[in-house]
Amino acid sequence: MDSRSAIKLWSARTYIIAAVCGVTVVIMAAMGAAQQRPQPKPTNLQVLDSTISHDELIDQMGKFTNALGVGCDYCHSPSKDPNSRDMDFASDAKEEKLVARAMMKMTRDINGTYLANVKGLEAPLVAVECMTCHRGQTEPIQLADLLSKTLAEKGMAAADSTYRELREQYYGSATFDFSEGVLVHLAYDISEEDSKDALSLLKLNQEFNPKSSFNQWAMGQLYLSTGDTTQAITEYKRALELDPKNRRAKRGLEALGVKTE
Ligand code: HEC
Ligand code: HEC
Repeated sequence: MDSRSAIKLWSARTYIIAAVCGVTVVIMAAMGAAQQRPQPKPTNLQVLDSTISHDELIDQMGKFTNALGVGCDYCHSPSKDPNSRDMDFASDAKEEKLVARAMMKMTRDINGTYLANVKGLEAPLVAVECMTCHRGQTEPIQLADLLSKTLAEKGMAAADSTYRELREQYYGSATFDFSEGVLVHLAYDISEEDSKDALSLLKLNQEFNPKSSFNQWAMGQLYLSTGDTTQAITEYKRALELDPKNRRAKRGLEALGVKTE
């Protein structure tokens, strides 16, 4: 096999892997294509330096796809030639590309203008990138805000299944924070308005974080606020079992006249 067909085979293979593995490998596919034939010079760069090398350009684009959790076609339109499977990368037809360009300028200004002028920061500065905010999603919303929106619009059952689905899909990635505190704080925020939903959130949290003394204490607080002191005592005691140093649980019990030592 000569080196050209070896490269072709490699590219073809990378495309197949890309189809299987999705976003991350799209970059490899693009790199394979780059080796295969000379790349056309970019014709519509308005933010990036027009002398950027092809590799650097594709590297940048790969960072965009990773940061937003999308493929190239999220911003780029298909070729106008219906017989071609290529993309028309220079086209500005998609709204998303225009937003992305505005985001590029914003990110450049954050680093080059705003951060650069903050006195007291140590050089070299940590650069803000698309990933800093987006963390693998197009709309960089935080878990608590997303759940609170779902709760308000669709109710507790929807918030519960949303949490489970997101956890299934994103646990271990930077996209959403599944640590114990998020649901405790959300429950606290809504507890005056709706103690039933607040309790459901804490129970959901308990299911995934059964060893969280903090969550158990919060359940105690919630029962106390609804006047159920017996259940509050039970929860505070469990919180203390989980973490004998939980001072808030201790104080909770002492305030209800229960000895803790
Ligand atoms: C989040 C949106 C977004 C994604 C995803 C994205 N791009 Fe881009 N791409 C842009 C923007 C915006 C520009 C124009 C940059 C500028 O004006 O300096 C661009 C420009 C380009 C260009 C130069 C086109 C020209 O002729 O001016 C190429 C080539 C390109 N992208 C390839 C890719 C590839 C390959 C992928 C997938 C790995 C990709 N892009 C993913 C937003 C995106
Ligand atoms: C400082 C935080 C921040 C940075 C950095 C940032 N973005 Fe964004 N971006 C946002 C926010 C917030 C939104 C959502 C606005 C909304 O819809 O409420 C957004 C929305 C977008 C959207 C539209 C998504 C949609 O749902 O329509 C695109 C595309 C995008 N950003 C691309 C980028 C790219 C590419 C970069 C890096 C060059 C970047 N962003 C950097 C905060 C950021």
